Amino acid sequence: MKIMVLGGAGFIGSAFVRELNSRKIKPLVFDLLTYAGRLENLSGTDYDFVKGDIRDSKLHDVIASFRPEIIVNFAAETHVDRSIYKPQDFVTTNILGTVNILEALRLYNFKYVHVSTDEVYGEECADENSPLNPSSPYSASKASADLLVKSYVRTYNVEAIIVRPSNNYGPRQFPEKFIPKTIIRTLLGLHVPIYGDGKQERDWIYVEDTAKIIADLLSKAEWKGNVYNLPGGQRVTNIEIIKLLEEIMNRKIEVRFVSDRPGHDKRYCMINTKLRYTSTTLADGLRKVYEWYINNRWWWESLISNKFFREDEPWKTV
Ligand SMILES: NC(=O)c1ccc[n+]([C@@H]2O[C@H](COP(=O)([O-])OP(=O)(O)OC[C@H]3O[C@@H](n4cnc5c(N)ncnc54)[C@H](O)[C@@H]3O)[C@@H](O)[C@H]2O)c1
Repeated sequence: MKIMVLGGAGFIGSAFVRELNSRKIKPLVFDLLTYAGRLENLSGTDYDFVKGDIRDSKLHDVIASFRPEIIVNFAAETHVDRSIYKPQDFVTTNILGTVNILEALRLYNFKYVHVSTDEVYGEECADENSPLNPSSPYSASKASADLLVKSYVRTYNVEAIIVRPSNNYGPRQFPEKFIPKTIIRTLLGLHVPIYGDGKQERDWIYVEDTAKIIADLLSKAEWKGNVYNLPGGQRVTNIEIIKLLEEIMNRKIEVRFVSDRPGHDKRYCMINTKLRYTSTTLADGLRKVYEWYINNRWWWESLISNKFFREDEPWKTV
């Protein structure tokens, strides 16, 4: 099967490439290699690679020559704090980039998997038909793209689905994100900033589970703009994550409560009414993640000077 993976050098995209390889598929990865995309994430995998921007016409040239049967799009700006600090790239990549892919979809005959997020639903418990109510520039850009995908299916009769995973965690997640930030800062003897009261609830899914569920979906999806929610079914507060990590790391995590992220959703709570799958337990998944970060210091040591890893309230401009 000819599959193109947009954003395949990022966190979930690279796990998806590994999953495809385990199914004997060698994909074409198309990625801009932004701060979050690194070829190191793909070490040991089998893939062809084109460096490119989903906002550019080059994407159409690559699709015209490769002729994929399926395109899975993980390419996005993904960090909520960055979207508060500087929303513009979120609009151009997440919205205009998606429109550029959708324009290719009108011209070339492939099936399109659009990777979205549970954050588009806002704080209410949501099934696949619930209204979208995003709170941050990040989730608003994702919700906008989802609506555009639906509109192209309806207007141009193209084949596409939207998958909405919950919070992913696993190896190769950029250190700005909550779980790797907590592990790495603790390994370095630094405190861990907790936004607000730390009682925000998130549903967590292990990244290899997400990759497997999406790969399984490719052969059974209904390509009529259908939405698939992918919760991990493990909803805990941020403070509970800290407690679980303290047990796994066998040490005290020094927490510092800082001001809350503006617009911070109190909880995400997504219901899956369509798919059956099993999820890695949070205890097992967190143990695997911790082991990966202690055994792969080379992967993260060069990344930790970044403001979004270092600062307590990195969304602030001053
Ligand atoms: N990580 C999560 O917890 C999570 C949860 C739900 C949904 N998602 C969604 O899953 C997708 C992947 O997330 P992730 O955590 O792997 O992201 P990531 O930030 O780790 O990786 C994003 C990748 O996209 C690439 N990219 C960015 N802009 C690009 C552009 N203009 N053109 C081409 N490539 C570009 C980057 O180089 C990088 O390789 C995103 O759509 C995200 O919204 C993520």
